[in-house]
Parts: sequence; C-alpha cells; structure tokens
Amino acid sequence: MTATENKITIKRPDDWHLHLRDGATLSAVLPYTAALYGRAIVMPNLTPPVTNVAEAAAYRDRILDALPDGWSFKPLMTCYLTDNTDPDDVERGYREDVFTAVKLYPARATTNSEFGVTAWENIRDVLARMEKIGMPLLIHGEEADPEIDIFDREAAFIDNVLNDWMIRDYPELKIVLEHITTKEGAEFVADAKGNIGATVTPHHLVLNRNDLLAGGIRPHLYCLPIVKRDKHRVALRVAVTSGDNSFFLGTDSAPHPISAKETDCGCAGIFNAPNAIEVYANVFEEMDALDKLEAFASLNGPGFYGLEPNRDTITLERKSCMVMGEIDIPESDDSIRPFLSGEHLNWSVTKT
Ligand code: DOR
Ligand code: ZN
Repeated sequence: MTATENKITIKRPDDWHLHLRDGATLSAVLPYTAALYGRAIVMPNLTPPVTNVAEAAAYRDRILDALPDGWSFKPLMTCYLTDNTDPDDVERGYREDVFTAVKLYPARATTNSEFGVTAWENIRDVLARMEKIGMPLLIHGEEADPEIDIFDREAAFIDNVLNDWMIRDYPELKIVLEHITTKEGAEFVADAKGNIGATVTPHHLVLNRNDLLAGGIRPHLYCLPIVKRDKHRVALRVAVTSGDNSFFLGTDSAPHPISAKETDCGCAGIFNAPNAIEVYANVFEEMDALDKLEAFASLNGPGFYGLEPNRDTITLERKSCMVMGEIDIPESDDSIRPFLSGEHLNWSVTKT
C-alpha cells in the first residue's frame, strides 16, 4: 500500500458477497464489479436457486460469457443450502473447484429464501462434512420467526443458533456471518476464534434507520438485514477499522428493477457495485483509518478463504465524484438505481 494525503494505492480488492442475478441484469451489472474487483463470492439465490454442482458450473459459465472480452475477473460460486442438500455433492463441488462455499438462508428470512433451511436437524450432516473438509459456511444471520421484531433478528440468530448450538457442535467450521448490521454481530465476530469472520457492506457503515424511515420512506435504502439504530452503525465502523482481520469487504450489492423497489411491497436490496469502494474509502477516512483500508478490502478476505491476495493494484484519489444515475436493463423498460445516485463522494477510483 502507498498513501499520501490525497492518493492511496492498494492491492486490487475482492468482493466477498455479491448478487449478480442472471440474463439481461447480469450483463448490465457485471462490468461494475469486474472492472474493479479481482474476485467475488457470487450469491446463489436465483429463481430457482443454485443448489448443486451442475447448476453452479452452468451459472459460472453464464457469468464468464457475460464478461467483456479480455477482462480478468474470477467468480467464486456458492451452493444454496436446502433441507435436502447432499453432503457428497457439496464435497465434490468443493474438491472440483466449482463451489467455494455454501450459503445458508433460513427459510423466508430474505429475498428468494423460500427454498432455504426450515429445520436445523436437516443440515447437520452437511455441516459436519464442511467442518471436516474446511469448506466455509456463509450465513444470512437473521431469525426468520415472524414473531421476532425485524430489528432484533440478527441478535436473535446469534443467540439462538450460533451461540446456542452451532459453534459448540461444529467448533472448527469456517463461518462467515454475512453483512453484519449490529453491535452484537461485531462483538460476536471479534470475540470468536479465527475460523469465524464477517463481511460488512458500505451501506451499513453509512446508514441508520432514520435514513430509511424519518421524513419519508426510502425504498432504495431498504435491504436485509435492515439498517439499525445509529449505535450499531458506529460499532460496525469501529470493527472494520480496528485492524481485526476477521472483518472484510462484502458489498451485498443486490440489484432490483426500480419497478420492484418503488411499489406497494418493495424488494430488499441495494445496488452499490458502481461506488462501494469510494464509500468505504470515505468511511475509513472519517475514522482516520485509511491505512487500514487495504487490509479490509484486499487482504483479510483472501486470508480467511486461504487464497493469495490479488497482485495488481487500484488507486483512489481525493477527488469529488458524483454517483452515476440509473442504468438500463437491456431488453426491458426498467432500470436500476445505484446507491446514493446523484450524490457526491470525496474519493474517486483513478486507476485500475
Ligand atoms: O437486501 C438484500 N437483498 N438482502 C438479502 O439478503 C438478499 C438480497 C437480494 O438478493 O436482493
Ligand atoms: Zn446478499
């Protein structure tokens, strides 16, 4: 890493949590990630979801086909865990380098999670196998019980699942608690052993629930887990700038057409791929911790996954940039609105 007051060069980052979708949307959104990031963990919550090796290999081919010629970007595929996932298929996919990880959605916790896990006893054999072979489990850590208040679902998941049985019964299982949103999440990961990490999104570092709800409801700031009270945003900022290598970059960039966001029952998801790194840079600067940005964005994730960091670099400069407007979805009348569209950020990527 090299840094002056106005310019910082870091190893090329990776995105450890990304939704790329499929078809026309995939082609529209992929370049924003692939231009900057070396690799990305690709979420499997398509409709229908990616639940076995053959589907993951085919999805990976579609992603590579959508990549502009000559670009280097490696999609790292995940397996959507269901009640019926076969441990042998998971292990084969991991050994054949198709699957990098398995994604756990509690059924009905979020977008396209209806095929997720309905009872924990159904996944015990898969977890045991993953623990044995060292394969990471990526968790959408929210209790799906409709009785539990939406703002308490992450903390409830930590109590009722992670602390209650999962880390006791599978102590060596590699776990990433995805897109943490709470003080409880940050503390759980900071206190855990080295086999537990967390991704943190740009939006959870800059938004609190007033931003979402006070003075009018903002559908483009609605995501899951939902943004919380400000003390949680502050705790996440402290965690990512603490120097603890358990925390790493995962944008959870999750594009939806505007028609599905600005409607009676809008979808959860924020499309931040075009400007996530600039938002992170702003946050690290505000925390007086720009020297920690490279570890968070480019080193801690590969370290956790047992991969080498990327060799090439990117440069960010302190130069005001306006976040781009909507992007069209080919073959449709719809478009996608980027996070903070039309607002100004202090940092710009000037070299990739
Ligand atoms: O906000 C979200 N959007 N959270 C998720 O867990 C899923 C994602 C999506 O797929 O749109
Ligand atoms: Zn996600």
